[in-house]
Amino acid sequence: MARTRVVIDTDPGVDDAVAIMLALASPELDVVGITTVVGNVELEKTTLNARRLVELAQRPEIPVLRGCASPLGGPAGTAGEVHGRDGLGDLVWDEPTVGEGSEHAVEFLYRQATSGPLTIIAIGPLTNIATLLEQHPDVAGLLERIVVMGGASFEGNVTPAAEFNIWVDPEAAAVVFGSSCRIDIMPLDLTHQAFLDDDDLARLRAGGTTVGQRLADMLEPYADFHMSWNGNRNLIMHDAMAVYEVISPNAITKQPVKVQVETGGTFARGATFFTRTRRSTSGNLRVGTQVENDAFRVLLHERLATLS
Ligand code: RIB
Ligand code: CA
Repeated sequence: MARTRVVIDTDPGVDDAVAIMLALASPELDVVGITTVVGNVELEKTTLNARRLVELAQRPEIPVLRGCASPLGGPAGTAGEVHGRDGLGDLVWDEPTVGEGSEHAVEFLYRQATSGPLTIIAIGPLTNIATLLEQHPDVAGLLERIVVMGGASFEGNVTPAAEFNIWVDPEAAAVVFGSSCRIDIMPLDLTHQAFLDDDDLARLRAGGTTVGQRLADMLEPYADFHMSWNGNRNLIMHDAMAVYEVISPNAITKQPVKVQVETGGTFARGATFFTRTRRSTSGNLRVGTQVENDAFRVLLHERLATLS
Protein backbone atom coordinates (compact mmCIF):
# COMPACT_ATOMS: atom_id res chain seq x y z
CA MET A 1 0.00 0.00 0.00
CA ALA A 2 1.34 3.44 -0.92
CA ARG A 3 1.19 5.44 2.30
CA THR A 4 0.42 9.17 2.34
CA ARG A 5 3.11 11.15 4.13
CA VAL A 6 1.42 13.69 6.40
CA VAL A 7 1.99 16.31 9.07
CA ILE A 8 -0.99 17.09 11.31
CA ASP A 9 -1.23 20.77 12.28
CA THR A 10 -3.48 20.94 15.31
CA ASP A 11 -4.81 22.73 18.41
CA PRO A 12 -5.82 19.78 20.66
CA GLY A 13 -8.78 19.96 21.51
CA VAL A 14 -10.79 16.81 22.11
CA ASP A 15 -12.02 16.40 18.54
CA ASP A 16 -8.42 16.93 17.46
CA ALA A 17 -7.56 14.05 19.81
CA VAL A 18 -9.96 11.69 18.02
CA ALA A 19 -8.59 12.83 14.65
CA ILE A 20 -4.98 12.32 15.75
CA MET A 21 -5.69 8.85 17.15
CA LEU A 22 -7.50 7.89 13.93
CA ALA A 23 -4.51 9.07 11.90
CA LEU A 24 -1.99 7.20 14.08
CA ALA A 25 -4.08 4.03 13.82
CA SER A 26 -4.40 4.13 10.04
CA PRO A 27 -1.83 2.30 7.90
CA GLU A 28 -2.70 4.50 4.91
CA LEU A 29 -0.89 7.39 6.62
CA ASP A 30 2.75 7.97 7.45
CA VAL A 31 2.49 10.65 10.13
CA VAL A 32 5.95 12.26 10.13
CA GLY A 33 5.12 14.92 12.70
CA ILE A 34 2.54 16.88 14.66
CA THR A 35 2.74 20.68 14.71
CA THR A 36 0.81 22.74 17.21
CA VAL A 37 -0.87 26.12 17.03
CA VAL A 38 -2.85 28.35 19.36
CA GLY A 39 -6.57 27.73 19.06
CA ASN A 40 -8.84 25.81 21.37
CA VAL A 41 -6.43 26.67 24.16
CA GLU A 42 -3.10 28.51 24.38
CA LEU A 43 -0.05 27.17 22.53
CA GLU A 44 1.59 25.91 25.74
CA LYS A 45 -1.46 23.71 26.35
CA THR A 46 -2.00 22.56 22.75
CA THR A 47 1.65 21.50 22.63
CA LEU A 48 1.47 19.65 25.97
CA ASN A 49 -1.71 17.96 24.74
CA ALA A 50 -0.06 16.83 21.52
CA ARG A 51 2.73 15.29 23.60
CA ARG A 52 0.15 13.57 25.81
CA LEU A 53 -1.64 12.13 22.76
CA VAL A 54 1.52 10.84 21.07
CA GLU A 55 2.40 9.10 24.34
CA LEU A 56 -1.15 7.75 24.76
CA ALA A 57 -0.89 6.24 21.26
CA GLN A 58 2.53 4.80 22.19
CA ARG A 59 4.14 6.50 19.21
CA PRO A 60 7.05 8.35 20.88
CA GLU A 61 8.94 8.48 17.59
CA ILE A 62 6.54 11.06 16.16
CA PRO A 63 7.98 14.54 16.78
CA VAL A 64 5.85 17.33 18.24
CA LEU A 65 6.84 20.84 17.13
CA ARG A 66 5.35 24.00 18.54
CA GLY A 67 4.24 26.73 16.15
CA CYS A 68 2.66 30.15 16.35
CA ALA A 69 1.46 31.46 19.70
CA SER A 70 -0.67 34.27 18.30
CA PRO A 71 -2.88 34.57 15.20
CA LEU A 72 -1.70 36.78 12.33
CA GLY A 73 -4.63 39.05 13.02
CA GLY A 74 -3.78 39.37 16.72
CA PRO A 75 -4.97 37.51 19.82
CA ALA A 76 -8.40 35.91 19.58
CA GLY A 77 -10.51 33.94 22.01
CA THR A 78 -10.05 30.28 22.91
CA ALA A 79 -12.63 27.51 23.44
CA GLY A 80 -11.99 26.24 26.95
CA GLU A 81 -15.72 26.03 27.55
CA VAL A 82 -15.88 23.39 24.81
CA HIS A 83 -12.70 21.38 25.33
CA GLY A 84 -11.98 21.97 29.04
CA ARG A 85 -9.51 24.37 30.63
CA ASP A 86 -6.58 22.15 29.63
CA GLY A 87 -8.05 21.48 26.17
CA LEU A 88 -8.43 17.73 26.69
CA GLY A 89 -11.45 17.45 28.94
CA ASP A 90 -9.56 18.27 32.19
CA LEU A 91 -8.52 14.69 32.97
CA VAL A 92 -5.61 13.81 35.27
CA TRP A 93 -2.43 13.07 33.27
CA ASP A 94 1.10 12.12 34.21
CA GLU A 95 3.72 14.48 32.79
CA PRO A 96 4.42 13.02 29.33
CA THR A 97 7.88 11.53 28.81
CA VAL A 98 7.56 12.45 25.12
CA GLY A 99 9.29 15.80 24.62
CA GLU A 100 8.95 18.39 21.88
CA GLY A 101 11.33 19.22 19.07
CA SER A 102 13.43 22.38 19.15
CA GLU A 103 12.61 23.37 15.55
CA HIS A 104 9.75 25.84 14.96
CA ALA A 105 6.71 24.13 13.42
CA VAL A 106 6.93 26.29 10.31
CA GLU A 107 10.55 25.32 9.65
CA PHE A 108 9.70 21.68 10.33
CA LEU A 109 6.83 21.83 7.85
CA TYR A 110 9.07 23.40 5.21
CA ARG A 111 11.82 20.84 5.76
CA GLN A 112 9.30 18.02 5.43
CA ALA A 113 7.82 19.56 2.29
CA THR A 114 11.23 19.80 0.67
CA SER A 115 12.21 16.24 1.55
CA GLY A 116 9.37 14.32 -0.05
CA PRO A 117 5.67 14.32 -0.99
CA LEU A 118 3.70 15.91 1.87
CA THR A 119 0.05 16.34 2.73
CA ILE A 120 -0.77 18.74 5.58
CA ILE A 121 -3.88 17.90 7.61
CA ALA A 122 -4.81 21.27 9.18
CA ILE A 123 -7.33 20.93 12.00
CA GLY A 124 -6.79 24.16 13.90
CA PRO A 125 -6.50 27.84 13.02
CA LEU A 126 -4.35 28.29 9.90
CA THR A 127 -1.68 30.52 11.44
CA ASN A 128 1.21 28.06 10.99
CA ILE A 129 0.20 27.25 7.42
CA ALA A 130 -0.13 30.89 6.39
CA THR A 131 3.24 31.67 7.98
CA LEU A 132 4.77 28.74 6.07
CA LEU A 133 3.39 30.11 2.77
CA GLU A 134 4.57 33.65 3.52
CA GLN A 135 8.06 32.70 4.68
CA HIS A 136 8.60 29.97 2.04
CA PRO A 137 6.47 30.83 -1.04
CA ASP A 138 8.04 27.97 -3.01
CA VAL A 139 6.30 25.48 -0.71
CA ALA A 140 3.01 25.99 -2.58
CA GLY A 141 4.51 24.15 -5.54
CA LEU A 142 5.87 21.37 -3.36
CA LEU A 143 2.90 20.32 -1.21
CA GLU A 144 0.73 17.48 -2.46
CA ARG A 145 -2.39 18.79 -0.72
CA ILE A 146 -3.66 20.64 2.34
CA VAL A 147 -6.83 19.21 3.88
CA VAL A 148 -8.45 21.80 6.15
CA MET A 149 -11.16 21.46 8.73
CA GLY A 150 -12.64 24.94 8.72
CA GLY A 151 -15.23 27.36 7.49
CA ALA A 152 -18.97 27.12 7.11
CA SER A 153 -21.17 27.36 4.03
CA PHE A 154 -24.23 28.49 5.92
CA GLU A 155 -23.84 29.13 9.68
CA GLY A 156 -20.85 29.49 11.97
CA ASN A 157 -20.30 28.11 15.45
CA VAL A 158 -18.60 31.06 17.12
CA THR A 159 -20.78 33.72 15.54
CA PRO A 160 -23.64 33.16 13.11
CA ALA A 161 -21.08 33.93 10.39
CA ALA A 162 -17.81 32.33 11.48
CA GLU A 163 -16.51 28.84 12.21
CA PHE A 164 -13.91 28.70 15.03
CA ASN A 165 -10.72 27.81 13.10
CA ILE A 166 -11.33 30.63 10.63
CA TRP A 167 -12.67 33.03 13.28
CA VAL A 168 -9.45 32.74 15.31
CA ASP A 169 -7.31 33.82 12.34
CA PRO A 170 -9.21 35.04 9.27
CA GLU A 171 -6.07 36.71 7.89
CA ALA A 172 -4.28 33.37 7.90
CA ALA A 173 -7.22 31.65 6.23
CA ALA A 174 -7.28 34.29 3.51
CA VAL A 175 -3.58 33.68 2.81
CA VAL A 176 -4.02 29.90 2.67
CA PHE A 177 -7.20 29.87 0.54
CA GLY A 178 -5.68 32.52 -1.71
CA SER A 179 -2.62 30.40 -2.44
CA SER A 180 -2.07 28.10 -5.40
CA CYS A 181 -1.96 25.03 -3.17
CA ARG A 182 -4.35 22.15 -3.80
CA ILE A 183 -6.73 22.46 -0.84
CA ASP A 184 -9.73 20.41 0.26
CA ILE A 185 -11.92 22.08 2.87
CA MET A 186 -14.21 20.28 5.35
CA PRO A 187 -16.63 22.97 6.63
CA LEU A 188 -19.21 22.73 9.39
CA ASP A 189 -22.03 21.76 7.02
CA LEU A 190 -20.03 18.65 6.23
CA THR A 191 -18.68 17.94 9.71
CA HIS A 192 -22.10 18.18 11.33
CA GLN A 193 -23.02 15.02 9.35
CA ALA A 194 -20.39 13.08 11.34
CA PHE A 195 -20.90 12.50 15.04
CA LEU A 196 -20.52 9.97 17.84
CA ASP A 197 -23.25 9.29 20.39
CA ASP A 198 -23.40 7.71 23.85
CA ASP A 199 -23.41 4.21 22.31
CA ASP A 200 -20.08 5.06 20.70
CA LEU A 201 -18.67 6.25 24.02
CA ALA A 202 -19.87 3.01 25.65
CA ARG A 203 -18.25 1.03 22.81
CA LEU A 204 -14.96 2.87 23.32
CA ARG A 205 -15.04 1.99 27.00
CA ALA A 206 -16.10 -1.62 26.38
CA GLY A 207 -13.21 -2.07 23.92
CA GLY A 208 -10.91 -2.38 26.91
CA THR A 209 -8.10 -0.27 25.46
CA THR A 210 -6.49 2.61 27.32
CA VAL A 211 -6.91 4.81 24.23
CA GLY A 212 -10.64 4.02 24.07
CA GLN A 213 -11.11 4.69 27.76
CA ARG A 214 -9.20 7.98 27.72
CA LEU A 215 -10.94 9.22 24.58
CA ALA A 216 -14.34 8.39 26.10
CA ASP A 217 -13.37 10.21 29.30
CA MET A 218 -12.12 13.32 27.52
CA LEU A 219 -15.19 13.41 25.26
CA GLU A 220 -17.63 13.53 28.19
CA PRO A 221 -17.38 17.34 28.74
CA TYR A 222 -17.61 17.74 24.93
CA ALA A 223 -20.88 15.77 25.03
CA ASP A 224 -22.17 17.98 27.84
CA PHE A 225 -21.25 21.05 25.78
CA HIS A 226 -23.22 19.67 22.82
CA MET A 227 -26.22 19.06 25.09
CA SER A 228 -26.14 22.69 26.24
CA TRP A 229 -25.50 23.93 22.69
CA ASN A 230 -27.64 21.63 20.51
CA GLY A 231 -29.96 19.89 22.98
CA ASN A 232 -28.39 16.47 22.38
CA ARG A 233 -25.13 14.73 23.26
CA ASN A 234 -24.12 13.92 19.67
CA LEU A 235 -20.37 14.63 19.53
CA ILE A 236 -19.56 16.32 16.24
CA MET A 237 -16.36 14.91 14.76
CA HIS A 238 -15.12 18.04 13.01
CA ASP A 239 -11.39 17.32 12.79
CA ALA A 240 -11.70 13.60 12.12
CA MET A 241 -13.29 14.51 8.77
CA ALA A 242 -10.00 15.96 7.55
CA VAL A 243 -8.19 12.74 8.48
CA TYR A 244 -10.99 10.59 7.04
CA GLU A 245 -10.61 12.42 3.72
CA VAL A 246 -6.94 11.43 3.47
CA ILE A 247 -7.53 7.84 4.64
CA SER A 248 -10.53 7.23 2.36
CA PRO A 249 -10.42 9.82 -0.47
CA ASN A 250 -13.72 8.61 -1.96
CA ALA A 251 -15.72 8.62 1.27
CA ILE A 252 -16.50 12.33 1.29
CA THR A 253 -18.27 13.89 -1.69
CA LYS A 254 -16.45 17.00 -2.84
CA GLN A 255 -17.00 19.73 -5.40
CA PRO A 256 -14.83 22.47 -6.88
CA VAL A 257 -15.25 25.79 -5.14
CA LYS A 258 -13.96 29.33 -4.81
CA VAL A 259 -13.53 30.63 -1.26
CA GLN A 260 -13.49 34.17 0.08
CA VAL A 261 -12.82 35.01 3.73
CA GLU A 262 -14.18 38.07 5.50
CA THR A 263 -11.28 39.67 7.38
CA GLY A 264 -13.05 42.90 8.24
CA GLY A 265 -16.62 43.48 9.26
CA THR A 266 -18.34 43.93 12.57
CA PHE A 267 -20.59 40.88 12.58
CA ALA A 268 -19.10 38.80 9.76
CA ARG A 269 -15.36 38.64 10.55
CA GLY A 270 -14.20 35.09 9.84
CA ALA A 271 -17.09 34.25 7.51
CA THR A 272 -16.28 32.00 4.54
CA PHE A 273 -18.12 32.47 1.26
CA PHE A 274 -18.10 29.45 -1.07
CA THR A 275 -18.84 29.99 -4.74
CA ARG A 276 -19.66 26.69 -6.43
CA THR A 277 -20.49 27.68 -9.98
CA ARG A 278 -18.10 25.99 -12.41
CA ARG A 279 -16.95 29.19 -14.12
CA SER A 280 -15.93 30.69 -10.77
CA THR A 281 -13.78 27.92 -9.43
CA SER A 282 -10.01 28.23 -9.64
CA GLY A 283 -9.41 24.49 -9.87
CA ASN A 284 -7.25 24.05 -6.78
CA LEU A 285 -9.97 24.24 -4.13
CA ARG A 286 -12.67 21.69 -3.30
CA VAL A 287 -15.25 21.62 -0.52
CA GLY A 288 -16.61 18.54 1.18
CA THR A 289 -20.39 18.27 0.91
CA GLN A 290 -21.54 14.82 2.03
CA VAL A 291 -20.35 11.93 4.21
CA GLU A 292 -21.98 8.71 5.50
CA ASN A 293 -21.71 8.79 9.30
CA ASP A 294 -22.28 5.06 9.78
CA ALA A 295 -19.40 4.18 7.46
CA PHE A 296 -17.19 6.69 9.26
CA ARG A 297 -18.03 5.30 12.68
CA VAL A 298 -17.35 1.71 11.58
CA LEU A 299 -13.90 2.70 10.34
CA LEU A 300 -13.17 4.83 13.41
CA HIS A 301 -13.97 2.06 15.88
CA GLU A 302 -12.05 -0.52 13.85
CA ARG A 303 -8.96 1.69 13.76
CA LEU A 304 -9.08 2.87 17.39
CA ALA A 305 -9.36 -0.74 18.55
CA THR A 306 -5.91 -1.40 17.06
CA LEU A 307 -4.31 1.12 19.44
CA SER A 308 -3.60 -1.06 22.45
O1 RIB B 1 -15.13 24.52 14.55
C1 RIB B 1 -14.54 23.27 14.84
C2 RIB B 1 -13.06 23.42 14.96
O2 RIB B 1 -12.76 24.32 16.01
C3 RIB B 1 -12.35 22.12 15.33
O3 RIB B 1 -11.05 22.12 14.78
C4 RIB B 1 -12.28 22.18 16.83
O4 RIB B 1 -11.15 21.46 17.36
C5 RIB B 1 -12.09 23.64 17.06
O5 RIB B 1 -10.72 23.90 16.97
CA1 CA C 1 -9.10 21.60 16.15
